Amino acid sequence: MYQDDMKNEIRALLKERNGILLAHNYMRDEVQEIADITGDSLGLSVEAAKTSASVIVFCGVHFMAESASILAPDKTVLLPRLDAGCPMADMVTVPALQEMKRRHPGVPVVTYVNSSAAVKANSDICCTSANAVKVVKSLAAPEIIFVPDRNLGRYVARFTDKTFHFWDGYCPTHERLKPEAVLRLKKENPGALFICHPECNPEVEALADHVCSTTGMYDFCKKSPANRFIIGTEAGILYKLQKESPDKEFILASPALVCPNMKLTSLEDILAALQSMAPVIKVPEEVREPAKLALDRMLAIPR
Ligand code: 13P
Ligand code: SF4
Repeated sequence: MYQDDMKNEIRALLKERNGILLAHNYMRDEVQEIADITGDSLGLSVEAAKTSASVIVFCGVHFMAESASILAPDKTVLLPRLDAGCPMADMVTVPALQEMKRRHPGVPVVTYVNSSAAVKANSDICCTSANAVKVVKSLAAPEIIFVPDRNLGRYVARFTDKTFHFWDGYCPTHERLKPEAVLRLKKENPGALFICHPECNPEVEALADHVCSTTGMYDFCKKSPANRFIIGTEAGILYKLQKESPDKEFILASPALVCPNMKLTSLEDILAALQSMAPVIKVPEEVREPAKLALDRMLAIPR
């Protein structure tokens, strides 16, 4: 089937099933093109919670579809590729987290949304890259357990005087960006601003003109008087950056910034999911309730 026919069929099936297509900012261009809403982890969670659609087709990775199921339990959540996981989310398990909690009794756990529903259920509050600083500052406790991203944790720790107990998790995609690559591009592109995601390692972040979530990058680049940017996050971001600022130039900081999981979902997969109404992601109630509490506490913090 041609791409255009496939897109038309997807749109027709979405209408028939009262469905909505959500796509993370790292998805393939053609997936972002047909999405009802594109966004970062926080934005998509909020949309999942408030949509009146009965079916959510979540084009992202497993933990994101779980978050949609937690926040919208009465809706059918489809994840077109069941194998689209997140290696960073898999770096923290419930038994390992419980062991960490035993070592630091009474210390609240702040969990990045890039984590399983079961880990969220064992946490006090969630955060995303867009609100992590605000979430940590909202807590009265002087100490924090921060899981699973050590890089985001270290970034946030710079903005508070709390004591952090970090988890040793990281995003393998962002970790592939090395400071040497950024320095070389900066030299080749004088005047270009370097913007990176807080999942990058601290040596890379130290070179950044601005560190923010994916949505933060669109806003920053649109408003900035600069017209050339070196981008330190997953390649999928370039699609909307270029669309929203067609006169500006965006240079990916490294060709290694491609997340294989985020690239799995194709138009064929979305069509097949809508035809078969599978795979469905459904978080069991005994996990959903405590996980929702952690997400609700995060969502209650003003953006
Ligand atoms: P966000 O900007 O949505 O936090 O993107 C980070 C990410 O890696 C999602 O997997
Ligand atoms: Fe996970 Fe990194 Fe891929 Fe995001 S980009 S899904 S954090 S591996």
